[in-house]
Amino acid sequence: MTQLIEPHGGPLVNRIAEGKEREGLLEAAGRLPAVELDAWALSDVEMLAIGGFSPLEGFMARADYERVVQRRRLARGLVWTLPVTLAVSREQAQGLRGDVALTAQGQVVAVLRLEEAYVPDKALEAQQVFGTSDAAHPGVARLQATGEVYLGGRISVVNRPKATAFLPYRLDPKDTRRLFAERGWRRVVAFQTRNPIHRAHEYLQKCALEMCDGMLLHPIVGETKGDDVPASVRMKSYEALLANYYPKDRVILAVNPASMRYAGPREAIFHALIRKNYGCTHFIVGRDHAGVGKFYGTYDAQRIFDDFTPEEIGIAPLCFENTAYCTVCGGMVSSKTCPHPAERHISLSGTKVRELLQAGTPPPPEVSRPEVAAVLIEAMRQPARHAG
Ligand code: ADX
Repeated sequence: MTQLIEPHGGPLVNRIAEGKEREGLLEAAGRLPAVELDAWALSDVEMLAIGGFSPLEGFMARADYERVVQRRRLARGLVWTLPVTLAVSREQAQGLRGDVALTAQGQVVAVLRLEEAYVPDKALEAQQVFGTSDAAHPGVARLQATGEVYLGGRISVVNRPKATAFLPYRLDPKDTRRLFAERGWRRVVAFQTRNPIHRAHEYLQKCALEMCDGMLLHPIVGETKGDDVPASVRMKSYEALLANYYPKDRVILAVNPASMRYAGPREAIFHALIRKNYGCTHFIVGRDHAGVGKFYGTYDAQRIFDDFTPEEIGIAPLCFENTAYCTVCGGMVSSKTCPHPAERHISLSGTKVRELLQAGTPPPPEVSRPEVAAVLIEAMRQPARHAG
């Protein structure tokens, strides 16, 4: 069997209780105070449970939280760039101690062993994590909308919510690791995305595939901001692309249950560490990775990797310039590979692409593969059926 990359911090975390332990927790859970999880918190619980956030075993207590916010490290010194916290109102936090049941639609999902309830400095968190206090940033808006108290402690999942969508693509870190080992993949590149795949994405992926044995195509299907394309539509676009333009045995498509933070550079490291936990050795970082609006510089998410040693991160970033199709070169290029002026390049803004799709017009094939455009046009025609 192929030797795989170690999860971040050592062992792959598994916080899914089984057998007698689960029965005991479940039996007690009915008598515990309950905190209802929203979709975001639920996706964090899932990522924690399956080891996607290894070495985290639960929501951060104050020591980890503060060090992460201020220094981009856990209290024990390990690199970690984004807080993973559970926010509740002051009223909800009142009197909580010991075990707390975490519920979704009233059903117990997990038990939180409450280590600490604390009041975070959210203004500092926004500034440090997102680089802004502007509520026009979706991450800042969400931070401001959540409760004032954070609950920290280990979790044990007793009833993992049953996935209803994307069932063939639900692979936990232990599953992708097994698949990589079975296939003998030593160098596995991961691609993070929250958008339908266009030609620039495809180019990045294929450049990386030239150097690696296989790719984990790993779109986010947790919460994304309202105007991002719904995951159900995106998944169809990935299927269309893979069926027509990729060899079957080089790509594994799996959904990433996490939610998008839009934290730019800090999220690039976070995304990379998550994919390391899934068993990947390389991670693609293009232009304005995990960015939103004009909050980050085009290559900030690449430069942040220089603040750490390669050993501390473990997974290697593969950084790409802004790419587009060049009509003179007759292929995808960047400023590193093409001498021709921008007028000879074909690249459309997301807004322009959306306008074309809404009018039922496929964007040029240099921007989007026709099979992908067809999926998106169909989805725009029937928004209600595809929403969600
Ligand atoms: S992201 O929020 O997940 O980063 P998106 O799905 O658009 O957004 O991007 C996925 C990856 O492709 C990111 O690493 C991003 O930097 C990269 N990327 C997107 N478009 C381009 C492009 N035209 N040139 C280079 N890299 C790109």
